[in-house]
Parts: sequence; structure tokens; C-alpha cells
Amino acid sequence: MNVGQPSGAGHPNAGLAAGDTLDRYELLCPLAQGGMAAVWLARLRGKHGFQKLVAVKTIRPEHAGDQRFQRMFLDEARIAASITHSNVAQILDLGEENGVLYLVMEWIDGDSLSKLLRVVQRAGQRVPLGVALRILADACGGLHAAHELRDDSGQLINVVHRDVSPTNILLSNKGSPKVIDFGIAKAMGRLAEETSAGVLKGKISYMSPEQALGRSNVDRRADVWAVGSILHMALTGAPPFRAENEVLALHRLTSGKPPDPLPADVPPQVRAIVAKTMAFNVDQRTPDCATLQAELEQAMVACNCLTTPADVGLFAAHYLADSARTRQELVQRSIAAASDRERGGRPRMHSAGTPSGFSPVAPRDTSSSGALGAGSGNGSGRGNASASSSGLVSPFAAASNPSMPSMPATRLEPSFQRWNTAPTGMSAKERWIVTAAVLVTALFVGVVGAILYTAVMRWHGSKVEPATTSPTTTTSATR
Ligand SMILES: Nc1ncnc2c1ncn2[C@@H]1O[C@H](COP(=O)(O)OP(=O)(O)OP(=O)(O)O)[C@@H](O)[C@H]1O
Ligand SMILES: [Mg+2]
Repeated sequence: MNVGQPSGAGHPNAGLAAGDTLDRYELLCPLAQGGMAAVWLARLRGKHGFQKLVAVKTIRPEHAGDQRFQRMFLDEARIAASITHSNVAQILDLGEENGVLYLVMEWIDGDSLSKLLRVVQRAGQRVPLGVALRILADACGGLHAAHELRDDSGQLINVVHRDVSPTNILLSNKGSPKVIDFGIAKAMGRLAEETSAGVLKGKISYMSPEQALGRSNVDRRADVWAVGSILHMALTGAPPFRAENEVLALHRLTSGKPPDPLPADVPPQVRAIVAKTMAFNVDQRTPDCATLQAELEQAMVACNCLTTPADVGLFAAHYLADSARTRQELVQRSIAAASDRERGGRPRMHSAGTPSGFSPVAPRDTSSSGALGAGSGNGSGRGNASASSSGLVSPFAAASNPSMPSMPATRLEPSFQRWNTAPTGMSAKERWIVTAAVLVTALFVGVVGAILYTAVMRWHGSKVEPATTSPTTTTSATR
């Protein structure tokens, strides 16, 4: 175990650095960081070169130290770990190491829906209706699987996500949405009650009125509301209850009045879906995510905009190409740096091995801001980061393949890598000095050898010559 000791007054990563390990997980590079938690790309190493890339969410020690929070976090994460669905990021492990509470998740090679919505909006466009419907229909499939989770005796556990938002829906590079952060909102909510009055910041855009009103009997229909409000956001480009500030937005949300109107070109089938998912009275709301999923699928047919996950993938790839490239480079560099560390050589990545080395990290996706949202890396809390989060995680398809061994570093810097494969731990400068010394020595040996050879040949010639001429001389004298 090699966890950076919590240095972290105010730092969300608590002194953790690339190369540190949390149990079996080697941290490779930070992907996002916020006021309460940080997300790392990490790898799980096995025998015979096996490695699997994972995402590790670490909670700051000062929060993780709260016993009730810790219990709630672990309880919720344990439950969430049993959700198995292709549209939910699988929780693989969880633990605590030197005060760092962490959650290990399936690593999703892609960007958040919030980032896609933001980039599309910046380009002056709107997400096509079919793309929005497909993403949310698939996300509903994942949510429903979670809502239907039962205990060993077959009883419903009543899992509710509580924080379904565009930041908590990641889009894989295949266009498949993956819901993340199941159950964490509950624990975070309890923590925030005590630590931050601003917990609702950015959250209320997708929060159900019953949650905002603090009702205790929140059920799956809160997540139905959230999906409806994301659809509303995707169709309008703005939160459903626009207001000058969060307090006013909260007031509108809890007033029982309907959200802002949808644009005139939204088809009636889709309007009806939004209205029903965002019914203030929970009993008048779409009852569950399976029903909502079916309605969204039907709307795609009715509106003649049938869209597949592959279509979503193409659309996202078009708008998020830069981000994907940045991620690819980040993952390649992180893996190459890890290989360097393994060989004992010097890390190639500037940040690797240095607790403050967070340079490759984009700020957390804050366009719609989350409970954790917004750390700019200085731990100053939520809401203060630049919204321009570029290059978070990695769309490096090969790297996401669990069975793939370390990235062949030659793909990065071919000439440098050939040097680097020698397990000497020497720097490039040292290698050049050694090479020059070897060449000078070889030249010296060559020159000395040539001189010696010439001298020997001359000496040999002077010895042999009289013997070859003498018989002739003798003969001639005899004659
Ligand atoms: N399993 C994962 N795979 C890949 N990237 C991830 C994963 N989980 C989180 N991330 C990355 O980390 C970013 C931050 O995620 P996180 O859930 O910690 O914060 P948030 O969504 O901004 O806040 P909150 O969940 O409190 O609303 C995501 O936008 C995503 O880029
Ligand atoms: Mg999240």
C-alpha cells in the first residue's frame, strides 16, 4: 500500500499522486476533481501482464472521516454494486485506505452528456430529437434495472438514484449512455447538510420537487422527473425552471407550476412525455422508468426519428472529437509513465509522481454543476471552476480493452522509446555521454591497432628479406 498521506488541507486529492496505490489499484492520472471528491484513472494489475483500466472516485479524508457519512457511503455503494446493466457504470470495488474512502467503477471511455449538450449549444446547434430520445430511453433502461433491485428474499430495496443529471450520464464512445453515481447522492446529501449550505447549487435543475421540499418518502419517480427535466433541457438548451438565481429557481420548482414552455417545433408526443414526467403530483407522473423508456421509444417511431446507439456515437464523436483526442493522449501518457515507473526509469509525464502534478486534468464538468462539481484544482469548493472542461477521460479504445497489456510506448515517441527500453534508469544525456565514450574508445583502439599492425609488418618484413635474398647471393657467388 502506498497512499499519499492526507496532506490535503483543502485539496480534494489529499496528496494522492500518480503511481500511488489504493489497495490493488494503481492511480494513473486524475480525471476530474471537485470539492468533495476526485476521480482517477487507475489500473488493476494482475499476473502475466493482465491489466484493466478502472475509474476510482476518492472522497476527501475530512469528509470520509465522518463516521455516519462513511457508513452511508459504503452501504449505498454496496447496494449500487449489485446493479448489473449495460447502461449503468458497474461498481467493481470499494474501500478505505489511510483515510481515503474510494469507489472503483467501470471506466467509461467517453464524455458526460452535460459536456455534449454544452458543446452542441456552443456550436449554435441543438441535439437532434432522435439522439436525445435514444440517450434517455437507454438511460431509463439502466435506471429501471436499479429501481427493480431486490434483496435475497425478493423484496424491492427501493433504490433511487436521487441525482440523475447530465453530469451523471456518461456517453461511451459507442454511444451507449452509462448512469454513474448511484446512491452517492444520498450520502453526499447528508454530508452536505453539515458542511455546505450550497449543496443544491446546480442540482435543482433536475431535482424533483419532493426532493427539493425535503420529503422523506422519495421514490423512483424522483428519477423519472429527472429524466424528464434532462429531456426538457436537451430540447430547450436551458433548465426547466429558469430564474435569476438558485433560490428563485427553487421557489419556482416547489410552487407546483409547470416548467418553462418547450419550443414550438417539439412534436406533441414528446411534449406529452415531458409534461407527464414532470408532473408535480407524483401520482400523476409516469410511474416508472420502464414505462418512460417505452414511451420514448414509441415517440422515436411516431416522430420518424428512430435513432440507434451507433447514431448517437457518431453524433457525439463529431462534436467531441477534440476532447476524445485529448483523452487519448492523456491515457497514453499515463500508461507510458506508469511503465517507466515500473522499469525504474524517470516518468515521462510531468505530473506523474508529484502530488501537485495535476496539469493534464481538465476541471470537473460544471456546466450543469454537480454536488461535487466545480473544483478548479485548488479545493476552493464547488461552482468556481471554468466550465470549459476539455479532455477529461480517455476515448482510447484499445486502452479501454481490459485484456490489453501496457500500451506499447513506441506509439508515442518512437526514437525516445527505443532508448527507454533499456532498464538502466539512465537519462538521455547520460546515455549520450556513454555512447560518445564508447565511440571515442573504439576509435582509439582502432588507431592504436592500425599503428601496431603497421609496425609489426615492417619489423617482420625486415627480418624475412635477407633470408629470401641470401641463396641467390650465395649461388651467384659460388658461380
Ligand atoms: N466511471 C467513470 N468513467 C470515466 N469517467 C468518469 C467516471 N466517473 C466519473 N468520471 C469523470 O469524472 C467526472 C466527474 O464525475 P463526478 O461524478 O465525480 O462529478 P460530477 O458528476 O461533476 O458531480 P456529481 O456527481 O456530484 O453531480 C465526470 O464528468 C467524468 O468525466
Ligand atoms: Mg457525478
